[in-house]
Amino acid sequence: MKNIRNFAIIAHVDHGKSTLADRFLELTGVLFPGKHQEQFLDRNPISRERGITIKLAPVRMIYKFNAISEKLKSIEDKEIFNFEFFILNLIDTPGHVDFSYEVDRTLSCVEGVILLVDATQGVQAQTLANFYKAIDKNLVIIPAINKIDLPAADIAKTKKQLINLLGVKEEEIFEISAKTGQGVKQLLEAVIFKIPSPIRPLVGQSSNKFSITNSQFLNIQALIFDSYYDHHRGVIAFVRVFDGEIRENTLLKLSHTNIEFKVLGTGYFTPDLTSSDSIKTGEIGYVVTGLKDIHQVRVGDTLVLAKSNTSPLPGYKKVKPMVFASIFPVDTNDFLVLKRSLDQLSLNDSSLVYTPVKSNAFGAGFRVGFLGLLHADIIVERLEREFNLSLVLTPPQVEYLIENPQGLKLNNLEGLKLKFLEPYVKVTILTPNKFLGAVMRLFESYRGKFMTMNNIGDSDDLLLVYEMPMSEMISDFYDKLKSFSSGYASLDWEFLEYRPVNAGKLVAFD
Ligand code: GTP
Repeated sequence: MKNIRNFAIIAHVDHGKSTLADRFLELTGVLFPGKHQEQFLDRNPISRERGITIKLAPVRMIYKFNAISEKLKSIEDKEIFNFEFFILNLIDTPGHVDFSYEVDRTLSCVEGVILLVDATQGVQAQTLANFYKAIDKNLVIIPAINKIDLPAADIAKTKKQLINLLGVKEEEIFEISAKTGQGVKQLLEAVIFKIPSPIRPLVGQSSNKFSITNSQFLNIQALIFDSYYDHHRGVIAFVRVFDGEIRENTLLKLSHTNIEFKVLGTGYFTPDLTSSDSIKTGEIGYVVTGLKDIHQVRVGDTLVLAKSNTSPLPGYKKVKPMVFASIFPVDTNDFLVLKRSLDQLSLNDSSLVYTPVKSNAFGAGFRVGFLGLLHADIIVERLEREFNLSLVLTPPQVEYLIENPQGLKLNNLEGLKLKFLEPYVKVTILTPNKFLGAVMRLFESYRGKFMTMNNIGDSDDLLLVYEMPMSEMISDFYDKLKSFSSGYASLDWEFLEYRPVNAGKLVAFD
């Protein structure tokens, strides 16, 4: 167990996570250089075409020290060199803000992260957001500057930003090119030296008072961080084992629902599913549940021994859909196919919520909640491609609430004095100083409320925080921001709360 390292790569969009993962896979012999597709872990066809990661991707690698880098020879923990090999469990994460909940899930399964920053872009909004998430989880952070091979790389400036912003020391920053492989070996070895093995106090409090009925193992706690439905083997749960050993025939239960099942198999990600006799404390792997109802195995739930009263691990903050649109099949006979398809997609995507709707114009369909516009776009494309559907989508909207403390029946709103609420988001912008005026004017015209502005150390960049209605965010705000700042400003947002809105402006439509 001491030779396991669980880590993730986090960064702003396009800073090179999946490319770096490629180099790691080559260094550990999972892939042969020049014989695989680029960004190998982005295996979804939509991901490949768009060049963006939309799903977390776990992979297990074995690393042997051949020649230890000079820089690392002086390390104090000589015991490390006693191991013949190291098991490195990497989870590659998406960078786009819509998929930041994938980063949250990942960070609960690892002990450390590589924080990757593109030397041509410098620190951007998502770099910061992900950095704070990693700090929150008390993870070891290894900062690395990427794309140093490019002529436009400004290594000195990026280093300064990292030092000023994140408070890291200059000598702790790695300089690499994920493209050429420069510095990548040292970075991977730093993962072994700097990130602790997964022996750490349990996140959840497990109780020892349970009867052992089906296994020689004392306790099991495994956090489900992802899952998918396999037509032959039922739901496959991706787990980080925090305690115990899971093997075929172990009788487990899902903590939150108390549903019991006998394990049909276990294994690791190579990155394909590769079976193993068992998966144990500290490891990342999968469990074949055999369960047929895709809604039973929820991301964030904990697998424990059946008949035990082991507490669940903390799980995840429930993700909140922010953007809503109605989806209708062009062929009305496809309604049930659409339902089944949404059922299936929602297993891997706990953020996806949907309720049936009926429209005079389009017939029966679903009102679907998404995390953001890109998420909506991807889901619709997946529904059309993977399930052969032809769909009509209404324009994405935010959800407005009616404050109704008296529990009035709202089927007839006439004459009622009601308070309407709309979702607000906190928007963080990183922009070079010279675009400050343009960015501020833009916020003003989109109902943005200025909150704070900070310098990023002695660099030219400013960190602005605004609060604004989500409905403005999902208009053309982002495109305008990019054009007003010549592409330099980057943005991160998170849900704040519902706030009163002038109801006179609301229009109901079918
Ligand atoms: P998302 O997951 O979508 O946020 O992207 P990512 O962070 O995984 O970035 P990805 O690996 O897809 O790389 C984005 C682009 O940068 C691709 O075109 C890569 O080929 C390129 N790239 C990544 N690393 C380097 C590098 O070190 N040097 C150069 N020149 N290009 C790089």
